[in-house]
Amino acid sequence: MHLHKYEKIWLVFGTAMLVVFLAVLGAGTFALGMEPPGGHHIQIDPEKVEETPPFDNPGLQHVGGNIYNAYMIAFVFGFKPANLEIPVGATVHFQVTSKDVVHGFQIVGTNVNIMAIPGTVSHYTYTFDEPGEYLLLCNEYCGAGHEYMATKIIVK
Ligand code: CUA
Repeated sequence: MHLHKYEKIWLVFGTAMLVVFLAVLGAGTFALGMEPPGGHHIQIDPEKVEETPPFDNPGLQHVGGNIYNAYMIAFVFGFKPANLEIPVGATVHFQVTSKDVVHGFQIVGTNVNIMAIPGTVSHYTYTFDEPGEYLLLCNEYCGAGHEYMATKIIVK
């Protein structure tokens, strides 16, 4: 079989690139311990969210110091609890799940932008340094009432 010189060059180049990509991926995974975002997800039965602790009592839970857990449930078309009050300066570990379809959990003006996925508890930590009213909204289209799926978080 005769291979043209350029074919050979591209074969070698293509194979080399494949080796480089796999090496980078392997180094990231095994040497640096990287994994897809949102690892260590906690699973939850989406049909029993409201009976499953801690989501049977959603809301803010004091951990210690100025640190809180916020257990939040997204549903068509709202969030539970509907109104969250957070002390200013508090670091809040949000733990969010959905009891029906996929929703968004975005707090406008912050980095909090979580997907609320049925069967999964998603989490994100944020420190509220600025007092005020924050808009919490759903940014995943979830049905006819999607545009009304919003509430506010008061930081004071
Ligand atoms: Cu929930 Cu859009």
